Amino acid sequence: MSDIAKLEIDGKTYEFPVIRGIENEIAIDIKSLRSVTNGIITLDAGFKNTGSCESKITFLDGEKGILRYRGYAIEDLTKKANFLEVAFLIIFGELPTKAEFNKFEKDIKRHSLLNEEMKDIIDGFPKVAHPMGMLSSLTSALTAFNPATVDINSKEDLYESIVKLMGKFPVLAAWAHSKNQGTPLNYADNSLNYIENIMQMMFKIPTETYKMNPIAVKALDELLILHEDHEQNCSTSTVRIAGSSEAGLFASISAGVSALWGRLHGGANQAVLEMLEDIQKDGGDVEKYIAKAKDKNDPFRLMGFGHRVYKNFDPRARIIKKAADDLFEDLGTNDPVLAIAKHLEEVALKDEYFAERKLYPNVDFYSGIIYRALGIPVEMFTVMFAIGRLPGSIAQWKEMRLNHEPIGRPRQLYTGYAHREFKSYSER
Ligand code: ACO
Repeated sequence: MSDIAKLEIDGKTYEFPVIRGIENEIAIDIKSLRSVTNGIITLDAGFKNTGSCESKITFLDGEKGILRYRGYAIEDLTKKANFLEVAFLIIFGELPTKAEFNKFEKDIKRHSLLNEEMKDIIDGFPKVAHPMGMLSSLTSALTAFNPATVDINSKEDLYESIVKLMGKFPVLAAWAHSKNQGTPLNYADNSLNYIENIMQMMFKIPTETYKMNPIAVKALDELLILHEDHEQNCSTSTVRIAGSSEAGLFASISAGVSALWGRLHGGANQAVLEMLEDIQKDGGDVEKYIAKAKDKNDPFRLMGFGHRVYKNFDPRARIIKKAADDLFEDLGTNDPVLAIAKHLEEVALKDEYFAERKLYPNVDFYSGIIYRALGIPVEMFTVMFAIGRLPGSIAQWKEMRLNHEPIGRPRQLYTGYAHREFKSYSER
């Protein structure tokens, strides 16, 4: 392929460099478009064809169903590494040595205590507040207790803010859960690992001894590894854009949590389980819901199906499906919702509508079933996703800042009124 792309407008030809990624992805660099054409821009709603940055963190090939963090296959990482090890890889670029891992884990634990005044903020939320709303607010509130901005040029400063956020974020998530449940706010126990701590902070009650289930810990660890990064998705792009104004790490991550909340993105895991429960309550008629999803006059969509970039299959969904099977076998549970999910998947995959549009189960199709088996309530599903995504969001923010990327500021094509004379009240 040529190294130059040509664009012809009004008989004039403009040339733009064609650049290649490491896996031969091709991009036309249109940085100079507006200046050389005297104001012409591209229009790409939803950024379906627009690369917003160059990145060394995650590679995914939607056609081939490939996902790699820093070059390592997701299949290997879920089998051979743990969540924090992968977090280190994603944030700092290499798998940690044992000494590096131990230091990283210890430094994160050093920050697992929250300022007690955070409890006053939690007290202010109504009990029914959605935990994603609480998590976003509490993450932003961390800035109040850490007012100094991170000096991006200081390695130590940057590292400190990263381990601080990694330490405090799961506590905020667990406290949002406890607020909903009306149970006491648990502290981290630094003798436990990262995932065990999430479990005990969420589920331990003072009147009982909390018994850690290693099967559940392993399943959660694997599930959260799958969520750690996913290149320039909606919430990650939000983190990068917010951070590009030089908003701090905590504020940018808080913006990302809000973006993740929506049901077309991270919120899909909650929506999937609610959909499966509805189908179950409605007698389990899977075909009826497939027909609804295909009906253009019906707003119903098959939640957990389809993906902006995976047009073959979502490799994470394959791993999760197996993890769900293993977990159910290990725990000896028999959830009728899993049977409905499998039936739904089977029928949809054979259906022309879904095949033509390349709609396959995505990461969220089975994740909710796993969370449910772990005793995590539906409202907390997206919070679990947010905990999983934290290392990726941090890595993306860090990369964007260290690359000194310009402030994110898209253009628009104005289609509103042309100039109008102002009308006073009596003329309106
Ligand atoms: N059920 C039924 N039809 C669907 C579905 C679905 N889940 N998803 C897409 N389609 C159809 C659309 O109606 C459209 O049909 P048309 O060409 O006849 O108009 C076609 O497939 C293409 O869909 P778009 O919405 O244009 O695809 P887009 O890339 O914009 O959206 C998205 C991707 C948002 C994920 C979409 O597939 C969806 O809404 N899925 C359900 C929600 C979901 O599971 N989200 C989680 C994604 S994974 C994540 O974020 C972690």
